[in-house]
Amino acid sequence: MSWSTRDTHFDKDLVTTNGNKYMIGNGYMGYRGTLEEFGKEQLVAVTLAGLYDKAGDKWREPVNAPNGLYTSIACDGEDLTVLDSEVASHVQELDIRSAVHCRETVYNLPEGGLLTFSAERFASLDNQHLLVSRLSIHSTRDCRIVIETGIDGKVWDINGPHLFELQEQLEKDVLITSAITGELKIPVVVAEQAVFSFGEQQIDEGKALRRISVEVRAGETYEWYKYVAVYTGLDALNAGDTPTPIEAAVHAVRSAQAQGYAVLLNNHRQLWEDRWSHSDVIIEGDEEAQFALRYSIYQLLIIAPAESEKVSIPARGLSGQVYKGAVFWDTEMFMLPFFLHSDPGIARNLMMYRIHTLDGARRKAAEYGFLGAFYAWESQDTGDDACTLFNVNDVFTGRPMRTFFRDKQVHISADVVHGIWQYVQFTGDDSLLLDGGAEVVWECARFFYSYAYYNSVKERYEILDVTGPDEYHERVNNNAFTNALVKETLEIAMRTAELLKEKYPEAYRDLSAQFSAGPYLAEFEAMLDSFYVPQPDPESLIIEQFDRYHKLEEVTLAELKSRVINKHEYWGGGNGLATTTTILKQADIVLMLNLFKHSFTKAVKKANWEFYEPRTEHGSSLSPCIYALVAADIGSPDWGYPYFMRTATVDLTGVSKQYVGDLYIGGTHPAANGGAWMAAVLGFAGLYFDGETVHIHPSLPKQWQSVELPVVLRGGSFRLHISRDEVTVSAAASNREDLAFTIQDGQPELCHPGAQLRLRLEAASV
Ligand code: BGC
Repeated sequence: MSWSTRDTHFDKDLVTTNGNKYMIGNGYMGYRGTLEEFGKEQLVAVTLAGLYDKAGDKWREPVNAPNGLYTSIACDGEDLTVLDSEVASHVQELDIRSAVHCRETVYNLPEGGLLTFSAERFASLDNQHLLVSRLSIHSTRDCRIVIETGIDGKVWDINGPHLFELQEQLEKDVLITSAITGELKIPVVVAEQAVFSFGEQQIDEGKALRRISVEVRAGETYEWYKYVAVYTGLDALNAGDTPTPIEAAVHAVRSAQAQGYAVLLNNHRQLWEDRWSHSDVIIEGDEEAQFALRYSIYQLLIIAPAESEKVSIPARGLSGQVYKGAVFWDTEMFMLPFFLHSDPGIARNLMMYRIHTLDGARRKAAEYGFLGAFYAWESQDTGDDACTLFNVNDVFTGRPMRTFFRDKQVHISADVVHGIWQYVQFTGDDSLLLDGGAEVVWECARFFYSYAYYNSVKERYEILDVTGPDEYHERVNNNAFTNALVKETLEIAMRTAELLKEKYPEAYRDLSAQFSAGPYLAEFEAMLDSFYVPQPDPESLIIEQFDRYHKLEEVTLAELKSRVINKHEYWGGGNGLATTTTILKQADIVLMLNLFKHSFTKAVKKANWEFYEPRTEHGSSLSPCIYALVAADIGSPDWGYPYFMRTATVDLTGVSKQYVGDLYIGGTHPAANGGAWMAAVLGFAGLYFDGETVHIHPSLPKQWQSVELPVVLRGGSFRLHISRDEVTVSAAASNREDLAFTIQDGQPELCHPGAQLRLRLEAASV
């Protein structure tokens, strides 16, 4: 079974796409899939999680560190690079099983003969500060090679520069590049140790670059290693003698060198093996889907904040500074389910990030004159909103357009609450509520209480003037998705209170005291009693996306596309193409039907899928997976399959929107990666855990014979095998409790620790 992806020739036009596709990372940093000799023009980036900087009045964005893996080769005075030299063959490959990137380029030497340059690298999972590489050259004729390798301090920035007072120095044999960020003056340090057993080395004073000259003999292989460490002032360095980032980085490369490449690679591999052992999903019968799904999981794993609860996952992962490195609702709604089922510790970190950024959300609510917590649409380190009021430029006039993502996508606060409750219900770990989760829940409920409008004629609370997931229709009233989520927030606020009161009465009393001035539970309850959520029309079963949606112009997507004047024009906003029509950017009602799948009949889901799908542009990579999920839910997996494949391959094919207006939005798509997992596991395999019982309702696409996966439920480890006629559940012997499973709504059966359940499926429904 395939665990790697490769390109077997070099194509200049794919440099940016491959930078995303071949990315490696370890949650602390992302390293784009660029080649050793590349520089900032080819978008090399070592993107650091959670370190942001603002240059002048430009957008705040994450900081890219200097590139410690920079290496170039010259033969007999001539530079060899895939960009300009004569290449006889070239392979770039990513092994997703161990997150190791390789390239091998064979150059036709100007005076005849071939020179092979190979490099392998990984971002250590064992020590998240480390990048490690093994490189080699081999020539078919004698020649003089000069290798330049060190730390490239000329970094790619979208809205930089971010690194100031850049200094290059040498400490014994370790190269060091250090700088401080402009806004917060945070030190950023890269140290590099290269180990050569050949040639003559020269390092110019004040330069983080080594020049190794060697008379290469035909037929011999010359191999060397690079150990690179990245530290910043944000790293909690070992207490005690408190080393500086420079000391920590130097120490890290020295001990890496002492351990050696093979040991480091082996440790890294073992940790990856362990990761896969609790996250790999095996699809039998569909190689293409198998690889695409694994690749999607890989993308999530390389950016998962396994060691920090102060960062979450940005919308473009760690693939650069696109989208300001900001965290959107994507995390809670599209990525969290994967982590909940495979690594609850990471799921907890993601939700702790929201707790740590609660003050930013409080500030935003206050700024708009509301109570409680209004989470940032684009969240960075403090939780203050990085989203601007003018997020898109009009391609026709070049003028900034007023967009209302920041002010009106109020559903973000409900998404955060949804995530917190999912975590608590799923894991049973209610300590998250005591660690700040309850405050987040209640503050968000207070925000909605202050945002809601009481319609005294209709005697109900409504939510007016919002933008739902479909961003092409801004400032609408009673967006069904938003209203449904606000209702859920209020319910969760009540349930949180009940849970704490019962289990932690003292903590409940103390926490509640903070909210005694209200609005609090009494008000939430009153609001819930007369809260309006748009319902299916009794005849058509369609739920109107928002008030008066049905009054908009009905056009086909094809017709709308034919009206496009500029391929980068923005379809939403004041005068966007879609604004006056029923065409939506992404799943909205259908997403709601998926989130609250047990509150709607199959007929309602089907009617709305069929109504909204032709009207959906899928202009966001978050959209198709939701159509796949609901298709599976209504028993039509083959309708869903193409949407699943589109989602799962987005970062392999690079087929996605690259521009909105004149803004570059390329990069990786973690929400789609999480969406692919959801479609496969929660959709086709039909897994649903309500906190007590695991329900399995398979709906496999025709190509799939079975799906097999590990899951962690309530702290217990299980392995599920779901085929067309049978479900097998194996519980780890180390599990501490029984867990109930029901298949196709049958009788629940308990699975004891160490036991196996085999449950037959009714053929017709798979
Ligand atoms: C989508 C949003 C999403 C954002 C970041 C936008 O294009 O419409 O729903 O949160 O991208 O992925």
